[in-house]
Order: sequence, then C-alpha cells, then structure tokens
Amino acid sequence: MRNYCLLCLSLLLSGFALASNVTTIPVVGRHGMVVSEQKLASIVGKNILQHGGNAIDAAVAVGYALAVVEPCCGNIGGGGFMVVHTKRGKNIFLNFREKSPAAIKASYFLKNHERQAFKLAYGYLPVGVPGTVMGLNYALKEYGTMSLKKVMAPAIAFARNGFVLSRSQANRINSADDRFKLAQNTRDIFLPYGKKLRAGEQLVQDDLANTLTAIAQGGTKAFYRGDIAHKLAADMHENGGVMTLDDLRHYTVTKGRPLTCHYRGYTIYSARPPSSGGVTLCEALNIVEGYPLSDFGYLSAEAIHYQVEALRYAFADRNHHLGDPAFVNNPLRKLLSKKHIKAIREQIKVARAGNSKQLGLAYNSPTESMNTSHFSVVDNKGNAVALTYTLNYFYGAGVVPGDLGFLLNNEMDDFSLGTYIPNAYGLISKGAPNIIEPNKRPLSSMSPTIVTKNGKVVMVLGAVGGSSIISTVFNTIINVIDFKMPITKAVDAPRLHMQWMPDVVYYEPGALSKEVKHTLRRMGYVLQEGWMGKSKTWGVEEAIYRDPKADVWVAGSDHRRREGGAAAW
Ligand code: DON
Repeated sequence: MRNYCLLCLSLLLSGFALASNVTTIPVVGRHGMVVSEQKLASIVGKNILQHGGNAIDAAVAVGYALAVVEPCCGNIGGGGFMVVHTKRGKNIFLNFREKSPAAIKASYFLKNHERQAFKLAYGYLPVGVPGTVMGLNYALKEYGTMSLKKVMAPAIAFARNGFVLSRSQANRINSADDRFKLAQNTRDIFLPYGKKLRAGEQLVQDDLANTLTAIAQGGTKAFYRGDIAHKLAADMHENGGVMTLDDLRHYTVTKGRPLTCHYRGYTIYSARPPSSGGVTLCEALNIVEGYPLSDFGYLSAEAIHYQVEALRYAFADRNHHLGDPAFVNNPLRKLLSKKHIKAIREQIKVARAGNSKQLGLAYNSPTESMNTSHFSVVDNKGNAVALTYTLNYFYGAGVVPGDLGFLLNNEMDDFSLGTYIPNAYGLISKGAPNIIEPNKRPLSSMSPTIVTKNGKVVMVLGAVGGSSIISTVFNTIINVIDFKMPITKAVDAPRLHMQWMPDVVYYEPGALSKEVKHTLRRMGYVLQEGWMGKSKTWGVEEAIYRDPKADVWVAGSDHRRREGGAAAW
C-alpha cells in the first residue's frame, strides 16, 4: 500500500470513490473503475457497475453521457474505436470510425492546390457519416447485459435537466464562440440569448434529450433510418452538405481482432486500421525494446534519443503506408516484422539525431486546435474497455442539424488531400493510402489500448490530442513498464512528441533539464517547447492500472483536464 493514503483507501473500499484529478492522492477501487474526461460521466459508469452492469454496459453509458456533459468532445455526431477484453479472455476491436459521404471530393477543400483550413474545420462539407451511435449500440448488444434505455437514462437526464458548468468548461465553450456565432442552432445551445455561459450556470439541452430519447426507444435504426436520419439528411441538403440518407443507411461498424504486439513480457492490444494508433505504437515499442531504457534513466538524453527515433521511424511508416483497410492493403506484418525493426535499429545512430528528410517528404506544418475523448473502464468480472471517440476539433464542425441538438463532426480533415498537403495536425503523406475518396474511413491516430500480462489486465489507457495520442500512450507505457512509475505520475509526467515531419522534438515544460537540452542539441535535435498552438502542454490521457500488490485498480486521470476524474468502488 506504499503509495496510497490509508484513510482514502478505506473510504474507497467501503463502496465509493471519487476524487478530483488535481489531487495528488490517487483514486483506487477494489471492484471496478471508470476514468473519463468528465467526472459526472465517470460517476454514471460507476453507478452502472455497482448496479450489476459490466464494463461494456458502463462504457456505453459513459459514451452517451459524455455526449451531453462534455459537448466539446463527447459525441453522437462523431466516431471512434473500442478495444474490449472480455472476462473469458477474448480481445475485440470495434471500428465505428466515420465514413466519407459518397459524394465527397477533394476539390471541396482545395483552392489552387492549397488546403482551405476553414472549409475543413467548419460547416456541413467536412462532416463524415457518424459512427458513434451504431458503435455504442453494437457493443451493448454484443457484449453488454443491460437495455439501451437503462444505459442511456443518465445521459437523457443530464440533457433534460441540465448540469452545472465548471469554469474550464465555460471557458472552453466561450473560446469557441466565433464558430458558434455562424450557426443559429449552435448559438441557441452554447450562446443562449446571445449571452456567454458562465461557470456555475446550468447547461440544458432539450433538443439533445429528445434525440437521445428517440435513440433509446428506437435503437440504431432511429438514428440511421428513422426521423433523425431524415432530418439530418434534409438539413445537410439545405446547408450545402453532401451527406445523404443513403450514406446514413449504408453506414456499418466492423469488428475484428485488436492490433496485438508484445513489449518486455506484456501484451498490448490496440486499435488497428483505419486507426494508425496500434500499428505506430507497436512499431515504436518494438524498436525501443532493443535498448535498455531503464539503464539509461528516465528523461536522460540517451533514453530520449531512442524514444524519439522510434517515433520518427514509426510515424514515417504510418504516413506512407496506412489507410482504410477496406480500400488499401496495410502492410502490418511487414511493419511489425523482426526484419523491419532490425533494419530501423541499424539506421539509428548512437548519440546522433536522425534526419526525417532522408526518410521522405519535407514540409512545415500549420497549427490548429482540436478535440476528442478517451475513457477506460474495468469491472469486477474481468471485463475491460478502452474507448476513444472524436469530435475532431473542439465542438466538431460547429454546426447542429435542425432541432436534433447534437454537433456534427469535421472528420474529413483526417484524410490526405494530396502529396505535401498537411492536415490540422501537420500530418503529411504521399497521399495514396489515406487520400480522400467516397465511402472511405479517414486514417486516425486514436489508440485505445489494453495491456495484459499472463492474460490479466494490467493497464487500460488511451488519450486525445491528434497525432500526439500515439506518443502519449507510447510514453505512458514506457513510464510504467521501463521506469516503474505509478500510473498517476506516468500520466501526469511531462510529454515528448515527434511525428517524423516536422523534424522537431516537442516537449512540455519540465521534460528536459538544461543539460539534457544541451546534449540533445549537440546530437542534432531541434527542440521546441509546446506543440500546436499557445498551450505548452497537450493531450489528455485517462488510464487505469492494476496494482498487483495492493490488489486494487488505480486511476491515472490526467491533471491536464481539470473536470476529468475517476469513479470507483
Ligand atoms: O482520429 C484522429 O486521429 C483525430 N480526429 C483525433 C483528434 C484529436 O484527438 C483531437 N484531440 N484533442
């Protein structure tokens, strides 16, 4: 019990656990746990677990609840991925990533071969066919035990009765008001009567409550074929969007095995294409497995060198080779083969930075803001769920269709529009595997991940932050496995990011000492504090760790998202 406050532990084990993630006291639970970016949603999940639901019931309840209480990021208008570990030891990957509409064209977003940032960020054109509702409902039907009505009830109650906005939530809503101003429906929700919402005020979302009620009663059909689909398609048509009723009717989710690899005796289950997350994560882990990171020391120049080089090569492969498996052949075996990893290790020089240009295209990236939501769930039966779903930027495309009350998502920006044309995260490729095409799923970086040892769940984790999701999950796994950090510290630790292009190592304040900076620069690295915009920190991670000695689950809820937190019992 060395790391735990004994009083908290006894309180928590007596049946209830909830704490803010700004405290240094970790939340622990004997039976089950939910960690998400909004404490209210975590409590919803914990209540489901306590009332006999399993981790999948709880995850679906949390997914719907976040669509209400974390409107920047939780969603029913977006899409995502889910990795499930069942009590029988099966591991499943669910893909409910959005698809492009049949009528999509790259030319909608280009002018003189230049990317039109605003057209990809805002309005009806960049909207993909939403996958969240079908994904959550499918998971519940296949692996859950409760009715849709039961797991959706808390979300509907939050939408109908309102919930109190925290300061950071109110600030986030108000910081997006320039986009809300452009659409009356969105303004009505987030700028009611033209006034900014303040901390402590209730956010009531009646239209969203009606839509959620229709889904709870009519199931998946209500969204993809019923009234909601008809209204959505009509609103699209009226506002210059190209998604149609047929696009909605033809939407599917897919089920398969997670991308699986091994790292220092642990097994990693993560997302497979159309997410690049698991492949890139596993390739980078396989590369660093050849180096004694713990001997080099945490945040030593030597350890950072190999971590950064691993990310450089893994991201170069990501951007050249990966795309929607329904359209392209992803060379997963080759990328994760011993031969390929060995060839990469042979190219990494001792104490010298690599050179991204020599690996491929060169480009400078633009910067933009963004958002997504990850949560992790474990129950007392042996099930675990890692789920990441996205509204690509904060509040997605900024538009709400008709009186449906939910935000649409600008997921088309995760496609490549062509060679040398970067997306919002500065990700570039030669275009081909992830080029925008009709009915295709854009390549993602989302990396919901479950780590096991000897068949038992050790960690459930995932993050938000565009391409930095992969480096965040990569660094946390290394922090826990190589540097033996408690999960709270591993998640809160300052981050490093490298994504092949630009050829820059991004770092959060506190990550690099003066000496290490000096050494890394002498090795040839270009270092930059912060990534993508004004904030010097990035990403949010929500993780759960099984402490084998204390026999409890321990929450790693990121201090970077103040309203996030864990609920356990
Ligand atoms: O699927 C992806 O990779 C992106 N749409 C994720 C965006 C994201 O994480 C933004 N969050 N902060």
